[in-house]
Amino acid sequence: MKSNSEIILKVSELTKSVQLEDKTLVLLQPLNLSVNAGETLAIVGSSGSGKTTLLSILAGLDIPTSGQVYLKNHALHQFNEEERSQVRANHVGFIFQQFLLINSLTALENVMLPAELANLDDAKERGLELLSQVGLAERSDHYPSQLSGGEQQRVAIARAFISQPDVLFADEPTGNLDTKTGNHIADLLFELNEKLGTTLILVTHDPKLAARCQRQVQMDSGFLSEKLSEKVSEKASEKENIIAATEPSTSSISQVG
Ligand SMILES: Nc1ncnc2c1ncn2[C@@H]1O[C@H](COP(=O)(O)OP(=O)(O)O)[C@@H](O)[C@H]1O
Ligand SMILES: [Mg+2]
Repeated sequence: MKSNSEIILKVSELTKSVQLEDKTLVLLQPLNLSVNAGETLAIVGSSGSGKTTLLSILAGLDIPTSGQVYLKNHALHQFNEEERSQVRANHVGFIFQQFLLINSLTALENVMLPAELANLDDAKERGLELLSQVGLAERSDHYPSQLSGGEQQRVAIARAFISQPDVLFADEPTGNLDTKTGNHIADLLFELNEKLGTTLILVTHDPKLAARCQRQVQMDSGFLSEKLSEKVSEKASEKENIIAATEPSTSSISQVG
């Protein structure tokens, strides 16, 4: 397990604007964010609030208009496309909302691709192992068109994990799935995440999925704010209840048993 105190992602005064014909559209207002290694973070917010834009910049797929993004101490905001793709290959996994599998490749070939790009020599073994972990050992030779939506998403997850990324980004990983498949995919994410100590940053509309993360932030019209997760507030009130219940009668508790 990685140390929980290491900052793996640090964002300072990040903004993103796009120039339209007649005006500048501000997609992200100046925002700051620090994420610790091994942390699980949910980014929530309504459609159009800037979640995908932010995730793409954090993962080095896009660049900010101003501000700094450090991923594993790499200054992504100063890197060109080739340098960013190197950082992505070495440190980042990404699960896209639309899966984005390559239709002409089998499930196994899709999963192996990032490992091959990162020049890992045991790509096939790792690919088969991961397909088996996501319950698709028997489907390795099948093409995306032969798989259901949930199965394709599981292939996408296996692909995202193959190079053992330090940070896994997932953009609404369960958004296109029915509840049961969605729950299964979420279980897989947290399970693989726990096993490998991977930092997990996910965008979701699903409050239940968000609540499974240690921390939640909210996007609202390009502004980011920290959200006190229900889990944290529940724990706090549980604690208060326990204190309230035990305080006046601690001596009676010590006499029990
Ligand atoms: N390249 C672009 N040009 C113009 N508008 C864009 C561009 N990319 C995103 N947007 C707009 O920015 C806003 C935020 O988009 P997005 O990050 O995809 O939001 P979310 O993922 O929260 O739904 C939306 O209104 C979207 O239409
Ligand atoms: Mg989006």
